[in-house]
Amino acid sequence: MKDTYILAFESSCDETSVSIIKNGHDEIATVVLTQMDIHALYGGVVPEIASRHHVESITIVIEECLNKAGMKIEDIDAIAVTYGPGLIGSLLVGMQAAKTLAYLYNKPLVPVHHIAGHIYANNLVQPMEFPLIALVVSGGHTDLVLMEEDYSFKRIGGTLDDAIGEAYDKVARVINVPYPGGPLIDKMAFEGEDTYKLPIPLDDDSYNFSFSGIKSAVINMVHNEEQRGNKIIKENLACSFQNRVTDILVKKTMKALKEYNVHNLIVAGGVAANKGLRSKLEKECKLENIKLCVPNIKYCTDNAAMIGAAGYYAYKLGRTADLDINSKANDSLK
Ligand code: KG4
Ligand code: ZN
Repeated sequence: MKDTYILAFESSCDETSVSIIKNGHDEIATVVLTQMDIHALYGGVVPEIASRHHVESITIVIEECLNKAGMKIEDIDAIAVTYGPGLIGSLLVGMQAAKTLAYLYNKPLVPVHHIAGHIYANNLVQPMEFPLIALVVSGGHTDLVLMEEDYSFKRIGGTLDDAIGEAYDKVARVINVPYPGGPLIDKMAFEGEDTYKLPIPLDDDSYNFSFSGIKSAVINMVHNEEQRGNKIIKENLACSFQNRVTDILVKKTMKALKEYNVHNLIVAGGVAANKGLRSKLEKECKLENIKLCVPNIKYCTDNAAMIGAAGYYAYKLGRTADLDINSKANDSLK
């Protein structure tokens, strides 16, 4: 069978990334240019600054990726791009670049939902086996998704308020841990002890999550202690917070696997890099005989390789778009 090469773009937040993926699983080349250091100065992503940097970087990143792969655009079969959700100004830069190349080189354009990309990051590790449950945990999403076959997504539950990554970043901010706080809170959690009494996030029969309660509890507690002149033991607070949120993520995920009689679990999104979450899932999946797949750390946060992997399957299913397609800041996974 002839090989299929996808040139993929990701620019939904603060990473400008271009990748070439063969047959949905072989990474030929990926370039990721992160703006993290710039936004860290402001304690979070500043949308206007992000889109300006995407504009400045995109052509350089495309060229670098093609050089790394030793390929030309003529060798590509289709162009995949994150169309949403994300920051609209950022999304538009990747979309415009993808459309321009699709038009100039007469290549099919394949729009990819950002979360489909995070899910398909797993296909870069090993072929995804269906049916599966995907636990999607990122800066903007916390979802449980049932997939019965390629590119079919059924959301069975999700957060009612803050996304898990957002909760991590806000907790980090209140204890003066620089943006993005998730990875540092994760590291600190292993250096501390679970000594803080924090509320258990929504623990009901549904597959929904709620993290705003625990987030607010942390913020209020830190402020109260500061007013009293008491010192917060940051590592212990990180440990208690991480334990509470990962416990509930693991509990509801394991319940979904059981109820839907599914034996494959994949984890997707930036928070899939979380060591506490990974180790708890590993333990539970071993006990329950569930096959667990977690992307390599470099594929957990935003990158175009995952968009190329998802884009391959979308392309095979004929999910291409005309050049008048628009980016979308919000859109559900379907
Ligand atoms: O998927 P992603 O790169 O961007 C979105 O699509 O949102 O996820 C970024 C989020 C940030 O909130 C970041 O703090 C969080 O993932 N994150 C982590 C870890 N690594 C990244 N959160 C907890 N533990 C980590 N190790
Ligand atoms: Zn993401």
